[in-house]
Amino acid sequence: MKVLVINGPNLNMLGIREPDIYGKQTYEMLLQQIADHAAVRGVEVSFFQSNHEGAIVDAIQQAYFDKIDGIVINPAAYTHTSVAILDALKAVAIPTVEVHISDINSRDEFRRHSFISPVCVKTICGKGFDGYCEAIDILMQ
Ligand code: DQA
Repeated sequence: MKVLVINGPNLNMLGIREPDIYGKQTYEMLLQQIADHAAVRGVEVSFFQSNHEGAIVDAIQQAYFDKIDGIVINPAAYTHTSVAILDALKAVAIPTVEVHISDINSRDEFRRHSFISPVCVKTICGKGFDGYCEAIDILMQ
């Protein structure tokens, strides 16, 4: 099984960025945790991070041609703004789990709406880095 993990803007700044909300662990540590979990589960995992909306759309489209079986995506701020990412996920129709490190429902009002939730198998939020591992397990089911 091939899973692509996509992270959106500012998630490359984990560890530096608002540690009270996102923790002190870095983006590289996140990738290591996911890679270790995927190895235990026998899942082939690849990673993509971009601060640019169009690049994320390109990565979702490429997942179709690369025959990716499942997508784990944290679109970060684009969660709350991007119809383009929603449309890309609809276009490729690859089972997708949405992940947020923080609990988007208990923060600012504008973070409560996600454009992509309706097309995702599940949305996991507020579980920190563990949410990405849980997302892989959900895709395996
Ligand atoms: C986030 C939550 C978003 O509201 C925010 O814009 C992010 C990260 C999270 O992982 O908790 O950049 O997706």
